[in-house]
Amino acid sequence: MLPEGVLINGLTGEVSPGTGKYTKRLSELREIFQDQTELDRLVEVEGDPVVYEVIEYRKEGSDLFFGTTTMEPGKVSGEFFMTRGHFHQRRDMGEVYYTQSGHGVLLLESRKGETKVVRMDPGVCAFIPPDWAHRSINVGSEKLVFVWVCNVDAGHDYGDILKHGMRKIVVDRDGKDTIMNNPHYSS
Ligand code: PA5
Ligand code: NI
Repeated sequence: MLPEGVLINGLTGEVSPGTGKYTKRLSELREIFQDQTELDRLVEVEGDPVVYEVIEYRKEGSDLFFGTTTMEPGKVSGEFFMTRGHFHQRRDMGEVYYTQSGHGVLLLESRKGETKVVRMDPGVCAFIPPDWAHRSINVGSEKLVFVWVCNVDAGHDYGDILKHGMRKIVVDRDGKDTIMNNPHYSS
């Protein structure tokens, strides 16, 4: 294994050389939004827009990997575009999110149910402690691009968040991103 410099475009999220990528479109994220009727309408009318793209750089045998997440701006009935959100499978492994461009909210929730919010503005490097669920939300009008760095063994556990939701949601209220209680949260 040899060292390497990887070029990351902080405006587009491009990673050169990247080793893998995936895209999430609105229709694949139906369960996480409050207003699914409006989501279905947007999918129909806007041709299933991309919500986010993840590009990774991974080297066989390394303990670390990194990449970018690039989130499009958008809303579903005032609720901002967001990632699925997850705990890591390994409860002893956290993560780092370093915002490159755009404006977002990193919503975090501990196993005990505490909520924390870290603003994602260019230059902010967010520390995500082990065993805190994390979801990023694009609250701006441009792409939100961030670099993440994680242990390859951390793994994603989407089950809990998909089933229960997160305790808070982030919505546009009179042009301001506002954190509210999730009326659909189920413990
Ligand atoms: O590992 C991470 O936390 C990120 O790379 C996320 O996987 C990425 O931002 C996409 O979010 P999610 O996996 O919650 O859909
Ligand atoms: Ni993660």
